[in-house]
Amino acid sequence: MATLAELAALRTRLDKVSVEHLVRLVASWSLLADLAFSDLLLMTRVAEPENRGEKHLVVVGQVRPNNRSTLLGDDLVGTTQRVDAWPLVQRAFEERSLVVGEGRVHGVDDAVSLWCVPVIVGGEVAAVMVRLQGPTQVGAALYEKVYLSLFERMCTMVSDGSFPFREEDVAGPGMPRVGDGVILLDGEGRVEFATPNATNALHRLGIYASPEGRTLRELGLRARFVERALEFALPTLEEVDRGHDVAILFHCVPLIERHRVTGVLARVRDVSDLRQLDRIVLSKEAAVREVHHRVKNNLQTISSLLRLQARRSDEAETQVALLEAERRVRSIAVVHEVLSREPGEEVVFDEIVRSLVALVEDTVLALHPVEIVVNGELGVLSTDLATPLAVALTELLTNAVEHAFSDQIAEVPDAGIVTLQLHRDEGHAVAEIRDNGRGLGANFSLEVPTSLGLSIVRDLVRTQLHGTIEMSSVDSDDGGGTYVRVSVPLLERD
Ligand SMILES: Nc1ncnc2c1ncn2[C@@H]1O[C@H](COP(=O)(O)OP(=O)(O)OP(=O)(O)O)[C@@H](O)[C@H]1O
Ligand SMILES: [Mg+2]
Repeated sequence: MATLAELAALRTRLDKVSVEHLVRLVASWSLLADLAFSDLLLMTRVAEPENRGEKHLVVVGQVRPNNRSTLLGDDLVGTTQRVDAWPLVQRAFEERSLVVGEGRVHGVDDAVSLWCVPVIVGGEVAAVMVRLQGPTQVGAALYEKVYLSLFERMCTMVSDGSFPFREEDVAGPGMPRVGDGVILLDGEGRVEFATPNATNALHRLGIYASPEGRTLRELGLRARFVERALEFALPTLEEVDRGHDVAILFHCVPLIERHRVTGVLARVRDVSDLRQLDRIVLSKEAAVREVHHRVKNNLQTISSLLRLQARRSDEAETQVALLEAERRVRSIAVVHEVLSREPGEEVVFDEIVRSLVALVEDTVLALHPVEIVVNGELGVLSTDLATPLAVALTELLTNAVEHAFSDQIAEVPDAGIVTLQLHRDEGHAVAEIRDNGRGLGANFSLEVPTSLGLSIVRDLVRTQLHGTIEMSSVDSDDGGGTYVRVSVPLLERD
């Protein structure tokens, strides 16, 4: 279905300002439908070629009341209507004022009472808002009378352009509706009328005095929002809390007559339950964060134990093995560290990379003064991808720092450079590690690693992440050294 803006562009000659005004009206007019207990249609004139006698209207908006059954079974938005089927609408366009009468509407057996409200923008009637009321008369309950008189006041505002408000935030799903509770205040901010729901909401805020005839401030509610609406003729939205358990949302619409604010229509919604849910979600998030924090702490404890054990060992080989195990555990801790700050299904991988580089520098660079340069980034990755990838990259960076320069440091100090290049390529996360060291030995084969490091990398990248890994020596003409390319698919997780 076309949007109002699309319909206007295709079918009418309305200018941008008028279209924006109508879009705003349609965003906030469910208030009007509820006050009128009626369906509303918004119609405007179709732009027709010159010299053609026919005149047509196009329906650009429709809203149903939330508190009554609808009169119109069909969705009329986008339909073309003959002008002669809607003579009252035509009159509202011409007379530029409210036209009330009876008419026949397609699909409805009985005559329908119609209110046709011209929507004037920049001196021109941009559209006509039509209220359709069926034969089922609205009863005589007090609140119904109040709502209808409010609807009348707001119709005047629609035709003189003071409703919708330019500054109005478009109503969201949590906004109070008429059915949630209504308080009508006069031009001095005194309560004229409050529905039972609204009175209940006031009770929940600890206000038990009868509100009629008093301002909210007199009732004990520091209600700047009403004063702001009265003073600046602008809608206001504010949540009033009482302790941890009660939260009431007030949405105030100033009622304007001849440029003067003559009252405020406040819709009131008890959102205590919603806020309670928010708090539960927040506390769950905090719990998940705490778990990651503890996992990280535990991993760090394991890694310090390994380090202590390494120090105690006399054999060099055992010492190296323990220190490597320690480093592997720490690279996993890095991921949990990031998750403990930002829990969720995803992590910013670049933060992890920064920590990993620091980790490698910390553990092996003391032996070999090598520079590690990181280029590019991978952005946000799912955690089940980030953890194995972080471990694999740590292994590869450590290898480069450890093996590439082992025999030449003495000759060319400070010349060792390891680059880590990260990017995304057609649904894959790609990491390339390049060093300018001695290259891989003649007998090297990735497929038959006897050592642990590359076995881990192979297992993580191929089996766990369903990715690929290539390793090769770089020609000495191209600078020599070793090139490793790891590519893992971003989506295909199981
Ligand atoms: N960037 C590199 N430059 C030169 N040789 C490398 C490079 N990366 C790996 N190698 C060679 O590949 C071998 C296997 O690496 P691997 O990481 O599997 O084992 P390791 O580093 O010796 O031991 P560890 O299990 O502690 O990682 C290394 O011993 C080294 O000879
Ligand atoms: Mg290694």
